[in-house]
Amino acid sequence: MMVEVARAEGSFFYTPEGKRYYDLVAGVSVSNVGHANEAVVRAVQEQAARYMHIMVYGEMVEAPQVEYATRIAQLLPGELESVYFVNSGAEAVEGALKLAKRFTGRTEMISMRRAYHGSTHGAMSMMGAPEGEEWKGAFRPLLPDTAAIEFNDFDALRRITRRTACVLAEPVQGEAGVRPPQPGYLEALRRRCDEVGALLIFDEIQTGLGRTGAMFASLKYGVTPDIVCLAKAFGGGMPLGAFVARHEVMDTLQNNPTLGHITTFGGHPVCCAAGLAALNYLLDNQVVEQVEAKGALYERLLADHPAVREIRRSGLLLAVELGESAKLYRIMELFKEEGILSDWFLYCDTAFRISPPLTISEEEIRDSAAIIRRCLDRVS
Ligand SMILES: Cc1ncc(COP(=O)(O)O)c(C=O)c1O
Repeated sequence: MMVEVARAEGSFFYTPEGKRYYDLVAGVSVSNVGHANEAVVRAVQEQAARYMHIMVYGEMVEAPQVEYATRIAQLLPGELESVYFVNSGAEAVEGALKLAKRFTGRTEMISMRRAYHGSTHGAMSMMGAPEGEEWKGAFRPLLPDTAAIEFNDFDALRRITRRTACVLAEPVQGEAGVRPPQPGYLEALRRRCDEVGALLIFDEIQTGLGRTGAMFASLKYGVTPDIVCLAKAFGGGMPLGAFVARHEVMDTLQNNPTLGHITTFGGHPVCCAAGLAALNYLLDNQVVEQVEAKGALYERLLADHPAVREIRRSGLLLAVELGESAKLYRIMELFKEEGILSDWFLYCDTAFRISPPLTISEEEIRDSAAIIRRCLDRVS
């Protein structure tokens, strides 16, 4: 059954017939500031009227880019200060991988099993084996010299060696069905990368901009990567990504060849204006500070239902585990009837996702959880 969208506002979207849906996907962690956020809409309209595409790199100076890059660099940990804007999450990952090869002069790239980093050839090569095979098998040959280790397996860190250019990891695995890091794991990963001179890349495309209860998961867990990839909520609802590194690392993309990564639209001024307005909205309204309590409330309201096996959660990113895909598919139908948009995960079709706009109110959480419980009653 297809669902047509006529308009969206806050935590909801509406069909042309006026049926209301709770958006508990938020475009897969994109719409963090809520739909039709006035500040974002205004920023888009004003920037579109001022100028749209001129030329996004080279000698052009465009205020939305400069302001947004400056603001993001202030908020990111450590010396992650050099921001390269791109169009999407996958392109941010492509840029980060190329940068790591360029900086280290090495070729081996390690990712995590059940990782999702995007659908272009390079990003797809980093979908960890064997699970990623289902998606990437048909597109071989992909990038050579890639390997995958198990997320949260401390012993597997030995697989990272002096041959390794980079390790790419989501600090909280999303499409694996929400898998937060074990205490000490990200620190151990950081130490191992330092020991062997490999760059640590965090894919914060889903976790960034407040989703886990801190502005970035790297801040929540106190581990600073060498490169961070941003997208999704980073554009405030517009298509925008970035890879961010220390200047010393990023500058290596400028020589041999002069333009190590080229993108026509990356850092489009309207997208940067939207992203900056969304970021300012998060900051001005202390949205991120409330995320942990909101996520905990959902967990409390659902965890004791007999159909729920387990809830895995980081901030407002929840996987509600039902244990069986048949139940999951059934509840998706019931959700549609009852006006809830949810989804399952690429590597986990036994759990449904709750990742609403971070602006969702307590009342909306209670109301949507009550609807979810009614649907759960019918699959138990
Ligand atoms: C963790 C993560 N990385 C990368 C991507 C790819 O982003 P995009 O779809 O913008 O290419 C996604 C998209 O779901 C993601 O969840």
